[in-house]
Amino acid sequence: MTSSADRPTGADIRRGPFRVGDKVQLTDPRGRMHTIVLKPGATFHTHKGFFRHEELIGRPEGWVVTNTADVEYLALRPLLSDYVLSMPRGAAVVYPKDAGQIVQMADIFPGARVVEAGVGSGALTMSLLRAVGDQGELHSIERREDFADIARGNVETFFGGPHPAWRLSIGDLSDVLPTVAEPGSVDRVVLDMLAPWENLDAVAEALVPGGVFLAYVATATQLSRLAEDLRVHGRFAEPVAWESMVRGWHLEGLAVRPQHRMVGHTGFLLTSRRLADGVVPPERKRRPQGTKPDADADAAWGEEELGQRPVSDKKLRRVRRDVAESAQAAAASAAAASAAEASRLPDAGPDVQRDVEPGVERGLEPGPVPGPDAAPERPAAD
Ligand SMILES: C[S@@+](CC[C@H](N)C(=O)[O-])C[C@H]1O[C@@H](n2cnc3c(N)ncnc32)[C@H](O)[C@@H]1O
Repeated sequence: MTSSADRPTGADIRRGPFRVGDKVQLTDPRGRMHTIVLKPGATFHTHKGFFRHEELIGRPEGWVVTNTADVEYLALRPLLSDYVLSMPRGAAVVYPKDAGQIVQMADIFPGARVVEAGVGSGALTMSLLRAVGDQGELHSIERREDFADIARGNVETFFGGPHPAWRLSIGDLSDVLPTVAEPGSVDRVVLDMLAPWENLDAVAEALVPGGVFLAYVATATQLSRLAEDLRVHGRFAEPVAWESMVRGWHLEGLAVRPQHRMVGHTGFLLTSRRLADGVVPPERKRRPQGTKPDADADAAWGEEELGQRPVSDKKLRRVRRDVAESAQAAAASAAAASAAEASRLPDAGPDVQRDVEPGVERGLEPGPVPGPDAAPERPAAD
């Protein structure tokens, strides 16, 4: 369903009572999820009974349906973040936590002209389309036709039909982009691919001055290569990179704490702004000497190249002197303390039995003996 003039594409199918054709997410009493598409005459079966889809059609979202074995299911439409994690995939998808960062940090605004590559399964495409809105333009470029078909199916299922702001082209970004975008006409470029640095010329040509370039890469080596290539390119400002980690929380009674498991790594994000034509990027004050890691040049892996500030000889001399003085003072203090102790105690002699327990002699209380009720070392499982 495409939008009417006053309602954005896809908005209508996200509200109102359940209708035939809706995707519905069912959550059972143990928190397990199942997704169904509502069809007249169909049933949802598990080994513990079934219910007819008609029991949901016409009901409001958030309805609880009970099957023939008295198992209750909470019924909701999947959110975009649910949908991208359960939709069919060709390539790995951008996770919702990163898609949110991308929309925010690449400053994707309603009406923006955005280029995206590659498209993969179309997960990020949906967030970008929502952000540019019906009045914007998203041109997605994917070199693999099979992935492009999967992405198109996923996007059209989510929005209930074609999105008016979306164009999808098959081919390599650096070949396709110059044929579909006038130089200096694109507000934002978002790349999720193995070698984004191969496309910097095409991206610089398409972007407006001040336009945002954002790349999502999975490894630190890709991040390093991209950052160094952007610096030497000459048409981009100093890049900024970061990653985000999201840790869910377990909420049950007094057991309110971080979940034991989390997605530890997805990818790194990098942004850079397109400079105006003809300007030279301002020189960085603390620019590392090396440009790229070079396996053949051992010298490239020095302290400065790795961003470590070298310690001056003067500082080292001062630290050595301070450490020696501290050690001397500590030794003198220890000697004075043992001399004072020796003059205070009577000479007990080697064969005199002291009337104290060994632990007390060392200033220690005897510790509790761990019994069967001793607290476990690790937190109990959920
Ligand atoms: C990890 S997937 C993208 C996933 C996508 N962002 C999503 O959220 O579903 C990377 C895609 O980039 C495509 N690709 C790699 N290099 C490309 C290039 N130079 N031009 C166009 N597509 C490219 C690959 O075919 C692959 O489908």
